[in-house]
Amino acid sequence: MHLRCSNEQCATTFDLHERVLSCHRCGDLLEVVVDAATKNAAALKKLWLERRGSYAPKDASGVWRFRELLPSYDDVITLSEGNTPLVRGQKSADWAGVRNLRFKHLGWNPTGSFKDLGMTVGMTEAKFVGAKAVGCASTGNTSASLAAYAARAELVAKVYLPAGKASTNKMAQAVDFGAEIVQVEGNFDRALDALLEVRDLYFLNSINPFRLEGQKTAMFELLEQLEWRVPDYVVVPGGNLGNSSAFGKAFDELKAAGLIDRVPKLVVVQAEGANPFAWMWRSGVEELEPQEHPETVASAIRIGNPRSWRKSLRGVKSTGGFVMDVTDEEIGEAKAMIGRDGIGCEPASATTLAALRKLSESGKIDRDAVVIAVLTGHALKDTDFIVKNSGNELAALSEVKA
Ligand code: F0G
Repeated sequence: MHLRCSNEQCATTFDLHERVLSCHRCGDLLEVVVDAATKNAAALKKLWLERRGSYAPKDASGVWRFRELLPSYDDVITLSEGNTPLVRGQKSADWAGVRNLRFKHLGWNPTGSFKDLGMTVGMTEAKFVGAKAVGCASTGNTSASLAAYAARAELVAKVYLPAGKASTNKMAQAVDFGAEIVQVEGNFDRALDALLEVRDLYFLNSINPFRLEGQKTAMFELLEQLEWRVPDYVVVPGGNLGNSSAFGKAFDELKAAGLIDRVPKLVVVQAEGANPFAWMWRSGVEELEPQEHPETVASAIRIGNPRSWRKSLRGVKSTGGFVMDVTDEEIGEAKAMIGRDGIGCEPASATTLAALRKLSESGKIDRDAVVIAVLTGHALKDTDFIVKNSGNELAALSEVKA
């Protein structure tokens, strides 16, 4: 395995463990190139499933049990991430007007978001290359995850957050796990710029290609849960666009290894107030134009300058998918509906159901299509939003108590 510049025209290669953040030739992001699988497809499927019956740490992790398609390490920093369920939500499906809907709930990970899938690989690599301190900029979830995994790895953790913009619950996690919090005036994009100026930190944002290696396993596991029957659509929220990039890579690799014979259409959903990628898609321009003042109730995806847009676009295009946006009001309605199914999620995750309702109403997708909505964060990640979104219900209760 090695690292390669993700710009296909450049494609400069680097050693797998070289400490480079971007291509020194063209400045683009890097990606891990995996070697062709050594086992045949049927043998791999069997092996991966068998590991679910094992308590060995690498097997018990829903990331590392797919290690034939990951960078290899003797020791890994793991919290038994992954192995998250695929659940039906009948009320949500009826509300959105789709008959074959399931949620892949990545919020049911150790720190409550999909970030753990990437962090186990990113932190393992940080430790492997001898980093002493790790850092990230975050809208909240990455910081919670980084803090937890850094604690396990015994590394110093610094997290850069947009001042006053991350949910208290997520910041509380970072504090609980012993990270140092640096508040940066402005939004996530500013915080990421500030972080990248710091020396002597190993960066663990999703521009780090090892993070995406872990996150891609969500799609390996999804396909396994579907007994390798490929769904028609996979719908995922888009912020900095790392996760959708990882999913596109997963589909490529599964197809190349002969594990699937076609790929699902990848649909990336943004919030209308933080929609540079959706805007780019609709207007057909070639380059993403960063948005100065992104604004949405879904604070996890309040991002105006998504760094991984090129990688994400590649996956969207190669799968025949598309990019769209939904309003804050639609997010609120969809989130409440997912709650009625007893599932719950954070606002950013609800963009997926909101998008499906729009798509089925406009006839853009067939009501019988097999659809997977990826829920990225746990309901308890942003309880302030629930209080506000519930109207007077919770406010009235606290008045009675007083
Ligand atoms: N959903 C949730 C719950 C998130 O926390 C994020 C990103 C996304 C979706 C979007 O994923 O950035 O890979 O496109 N949160 C980051 C953070 C930015 O700092 O926690 P993406």
